[in-house]
Amino acid sequence: KGCKLVGCGSAVPKLEVSNDDLSKIVDTSDEWISVRTGIRNRRVITGKDKMTGLAVEAAQKALEMAEVDADDVDLLLLCTSTPDDLFGSAPQIQAALGCKGNPLAFDITAACSGFVLGLVSASCYIRGGGFKNVLVIGADALSRYVDWTDRGTCILFGDAAGAVLVQACESEDDGVFGFDLHSDGEGYRHLHTGIKANEEFGTNGSVVDFPPKRSSYSSIQMNGKEVFRFACRVVPQSIEIALENAGLTRSSIDWLLLHQANQRILDAVATRLEIPADRVISNLANYGNTSAASIPLALDEAVRSGKVKPGQTIATSGFGAGLTWGSAIIRW
Ligand code: ACO
Repeated sequence: KGCKLVGCGSAVPKLEVSNDDLSKIVDTSDEWISVRTGIRNRRVITGKDKMTGLAVEAAQKALEMAEVDADDVDLLLLCTSTPDDLFGSAPQIQAALGCKGNPLAFDITAACSGFVLGLVSASCYIRGGGFKNVLVIGADALSRYVDWTDRGTCILFGDAAGAVLVQACESEDDGVFGFDLHSDGEGYRHLHTGIKANEEFGTNGSVVDFPPKRSSYSSIQMNGKEVFRFACRVVPQSIEIALENAGLTRSSIDWLLLHQANQRILDAVATRLEIPADRVISNLANYGNTSAASIPLALDEAVRSGKVKPGQTIATSGFGAGLTWGSAIIRW
């Protein structure tokens, strides 16, 4: 049995925040940010807007392109680390889309690797579980968890959502044909947004601590240099393994589509894999690092602009907090 990508869509908030705007709230400059990261603008959710609103818009566009009715979706995977509800936001999106076919909907939490994990999960559910139309949505609003006084992190992130519809097909049309997935909890300390419980209670869990106080999460804590090194080390290896699992070689890659974290990471991975710069999809200048949304957002732009053409092979790889990373070789 095969599965293919039949639609994509994306959505970003209206508010654009430039590097110059950021230089008014933290000690930084357009030059520092663009040289070190390649980022020039990012979009930020404001007011009562929520991540789920963006996710619904992206999913609707993917369904429209695929010409699939919301009622025919039998599985909805929301890849996010910033759900609007701690219990998960996927069922709310299912309801907002008006999926009346009684689909299963749940969240996948794997930070910037979330979308690749979701895509591979969709392929496994289709191949092993008999599902036919799976919506995979990558959506995050990290702006809600950024410390806007920390110039080391607040310059990097933006909010967005992207979605693809993965559909069951004959095996000869298969569009998700090799993958490689990993995690390393030892590396957690390099990038996290942990629960504050322990610091707040301060004692050793004795009965005095009962009843517990309501908890919250810290802002994003990151060791940029370690994350940078980690990405440059694991991503080329992971893509090589995914290619091998797909029975392909580097020369089969039409496009390299990495999680959009930093232009220097994209360049370093492409150099290691000997993939020319004009085969690397990059839109982080406009949106920054949008976590689980970055890959489907960049894919959607590349498909709608005609850059990525039907039948082309894309090596995609996500990496980030957890630590987690994973690659998939897909055909558009
Ligand atoms: N503006 C001006 N100066 C700054 C800024 C800023 N925004 N941020 C840091 N600096 C300063 C530092 O204070 C430091 O000053 P010092 O030398 O006086 O101490 C100097 O610039 C160098 O700082 P570094 O942190 O060493 O800079 P580096 O070259 O490593 O670049 C960056 C930092 C851009 C964060 C880089 O390490 C990076 O991109 N890492 C990867 C991060 C990433 O992709 N994270 C997301 C992962 S995905 C996920 O799961 C969320």
